[in-house]
Amino acid sequence: GVLLRQVINVIDELDLSVEELNLIDRVYIIACGTSYHAGLIAKNLIEGWARIPCECEVASEFRYRTPIITPTTLVVAVSQSGETADTLAAIRDARVKGARVFGITNVVGSPVARESDGVIYTKANKEIAVASTKSFIGQVVSLTLLALLLAQVKYRLTTKQARMLFRELSDTAEQIQWILDTQTEAVHEAALLCKDAQSALFVGRGMGAAISYEGALKLKEVSYLHAEAYAAGEMKHGPIALIDPGFPVIAVATKSATYDKTVSNLMECKARGAKVIVVATEGDEEIRKHADHVIYIPKVRDAFSAITASVPLQLLARAIAVARGCDVDQPRNLAVRGNTPFRYFLNNRKYLVYQILVYHAAPHGIFPTLDGNRAFFLTPSISTNLRFLSTPTKYPVAYRGLRVATFTTHLQRTRYLLERHDLLQIPGGGNGPYTLTE
Ligand code: F6R
Repeated sequence: GVLLRQVINVIDELDLSVEELNLIDRVYIIACGTSYHAGLIAKNLIEGWARIPCECEVASEFRYRTPIITPTTLVVAVSQSGETADTLAAIRDARVKGARVFGITNVVGSPVARESDGVIYTKANKEIAVASTKSFIGQVVSLTLLALLLAQVKYRLTTKQARMLFRELSDTAEQIQWILDTQTEAVHEAALLCKDAQSALFVGRGMGAAISYEGALKLKEVSYLHAEAYAAGEMKHGPIALIDPGFPVIAVATKSATYDKTVSNLMECKARGAKVIVVATEGDEEIRKHADHVIYIPKVRDAFSAITASVPLQLLARAIAVARGCDVDQPRNLAVRGNTPFRYFLNNRKYLVYQILVYHAAPHGIFPTLDGNRAFFLTPSISTNLRFLSTPTKYPVAYRGLRVATFTTHLQRTRYLLERHDLLQIPGGGNGPYTLTE
C-alpha cells in the first residue's frame, strides 16, 4: 500500500520482511525513564491500530523476570543514548530467548543499535538538554511510524486511513508552534501557582496518563519539586488523601473518550481545595469551571495528543524550575550534563517533527508541509542534505524542485547548497543545538 512506501525507510532499518512482520503476535517495549514514557504512548497506538498485544516495561524489571518470549515476539528497545545498561541487558536477554529486537535510538552505531536485529534512528540529532525534551518527541514520532507500519502489515488500517493519520501526524508540528506562540504566558502563570508547593500531582487518562508520567518526571528533574503521576481513575484509591487546600493538581484533560471521567476527578480535587491546572483542548471553555488555570493545546486526534500535550508540561517544568531559582541546564545528580539552553529545544520542536517525518517519507515523494502548503525538505545536518541531494536517482522527488530548509550553523556549506538548490535557512536555527553531525 501507499503508506508502506511512505515508511519504507523504517522497514529497511528494521531488516525484517513484511511477511515476517505480519507474523508478530506480541510486542514488548522496554526502556528507562523518559524513553519508557514514550513506550507507554506507543503501547496505546500499537494495540489500538495494529491490534497486537503490547506490554511496555521498564528495562530494569524486564531483565530480571521471565517474560513470555517466542520467535514471533517483537521486542522494541527505546533508548535515546543507545547505551543505557539495563536496556542493553534486556536486549541481550530477549535475543537469547529468541525474540526479534528492534532498537529505537538517536545515536548511530550506539550499543543499542549494534546489538539489535534492526534499528530505527529517531533522527532527533544530538540531544544536549538534560531533560530529554527533544528526544521524547522524536521517540514518540518514531514509535508512531512503527505503529502505523505494524497496523498496515496486519491489514488493520486501509491505505486511505493510514495516509490521513500520517498527514495529521505531520500537522502536529504546526500545532506545537501554536502552543509555543500562544500559551507561553499561560504556562508562566501556572508556574507561579505551583512554585512554592512541596509536592504536585499529575493526572490524566489514556494518553493523558502516559503524558502525566512524563510531566511529573520533567518537573522532578529540573525543579526538585516532588511530583507524582497517576491515572486519574486511581485517585479515589488513595492519592486523593494527599489533597488539601492549595495542593497543585496538574491534569491532562483534552477532548478524548474519557474527558468526562477526568473532569469528574478534577471536580473531586477542586472540592478538596486543590489548585487545579489543566491542559485542555482549545475552545473548551467549560473546563474553566473546574480549573484554576487552563493551558490550551490545539484540537488533535487522541492518538497524537502526546506529541502536543507534552510540550506545555515540559514548558511548565522549566518555568517552575526557573521560578524556584534552579539551573535548568545543569540539573543536579544526573548522569548527563547539558550545555545548551533548554529553550532551544523548546523553540525548535516544530522543525524536529518535520525533520523526522520528512526523513522517512520524502524519498518516496511524500512531503509533510510547513508554513502553508509549500513542501520543504528539512534537515539539521548538511551531511544528510548532501546525501539526499546528491543521489537524485535514489531520491528523485526529494531532489526535484524542492524547497530545502536547514538548521545548520555551518554557513559555508549552507552557501554552497544555496547556490545549487533552493535552500532556506530557518530563522532561529543558527547557533542552536543543530550543529553538524559529521
Ligand atoms: C529524563 C532522562 C532519563 C532518560 C533515561 C533513559 O529526562 O533523561 O530519564 O530518559 O535515563 O535514557 P536513554 O533513553 O538514553 O536510554
